[in-house]
Amino acid sequence: MKELSVAIVKSDFHGHHSGSWSNEWLKICDQKNIRHELVDWRKNGAFQELRKHNIVIWHYSHYSNDEMTFAPGILAALKDSGCTVFPDYPDSRHFDDKIIQAYFLEGLGLPTPKNYVLHSFSAVEDWLNAVGTFPIVAKLKAGSGASNVVLLRNKRQLMRYAKRMFGRGFNSKPSALFKIKSNASSSRSLRDVLARAKRAPEFFFSRRLAAGRGRERGYVYLQEFIKDVNYDLKVVVIGDKLSFIGRGVRKGDFRASGGGDLFYDRDLMSPALVKAGFDAYDALGSDCSGFDMILDPVTSRPVILEVSYGFSHTALMEAGGYYDRKGEWHEGQLNAPEAVLSRLIEKASDK
Ligand SMILES: Nc1ncnc2c1ncn2[C@@H]1O[C@H](COP(=O)(O)OP(=O)(O)O)[C@@H](O)[C@H]1O
Ligand SMILES: [Mg+2]
Repeated sequence: MKELSVAIVKSDFHGHHSGSWSNEWLKICDQKNIRHELVDWRKNGAFQELRKHNIVIWHYSHYSNDEMTFAPGILAALKDSGCTVFPDYPDSRHFDDKIIQAYFLEGLGLPTPKNYVLHSFSAVEDWLNAVGTFPIVAKLKAGSGASNVVLLRNKRQLMRYAKRMFGRGFNSKPSALFKIKSNASSSRSLRDVLARAKRAPEFFFSRRLAAGRGRERGYVYLQEFIKDVNYDLKVVVIGDKLSFIGRGVRKGDFRASGGGDLFYDRDLMSPALVKAGFDAYDALGSDCSGFDMILDPVTSRPVILEVSYGFSHTALMEAGGYYDRKGEWHEGQLNAPEAVLSRLIEKASDK
């Protein structure tokens, strides 16, 4: 193999958001003396520059319409020209698209609540006749932090939602009002309130970037409602390591993500759940997956609500350890950007 060198793509979030992984990658490469370069993907000749490296890593954000449009294709072309890339197709193909996730999870026989992807108004009417169970969860395919996830309680609400989805649709960019309400319903202390206030500019930066993303319309995506669950778990798998972030639902709500009430209760991490995380990761052929999972209280089965390679690596480190494939817990933070980079170096060395 030629001498290892890593291109860290300067994403639109670089330097603007604490959740961006590029700074972490820069730090790790510096510490480990790995030859590397930060490359601005928007600059003239970026592709030719990226091609010179044998590893290209790009933590692009679903908030950036331009990155969502171009990053997967650029990375695919780089892969074809011999680079080892992240995210590769198994992680990018369904990124920020819950509908494609639902198709992959079903196709691979992985455990989820029942998903119903309805691509026409008449399909919605057929669903009402054939299934018609309420309440039912409706999700836009794009978005995060629970901002595009709602509960429909009856036929009237579904018909109104479907008319809108097959009409002018919804804007998928995060709502400031929802964010403020979420923070208000889950901040536990003054310190918490102040910490969140400090991150407000990051939220508005994301929101400004997301303004370029199109409206969501032309489908209705429903998911069986798993009731009486007051948390969800972000279960992250990278190679042979699995860690998690527990998130409590907002007050008087069924939605956890984006609420900011984080906890790390290992009692919720049953062996079945750990196994389901590794199984899904292997089946998808992923390098790094964050699965939003809950235990269905009726069947006791772990189910996957959504999948994403992008999540807060700092919140994950707070878990303080990780499970191995035997289900044994090890102390020592799982630093996701570092683990991904190590994995890519291994892959590149095998070439
Ligand atoms: N089918 C479901 N049954 C019960 N709760 C759900 C279901 N789907 C989502 N939720 C809740 O809503 C939250 C947001 O849903 P999710 O699909 O993860 O979207 P987002 O991308 O916004 O995080 C989850 O954190 C979970 O608490
Ligand atoms: Mg989620």
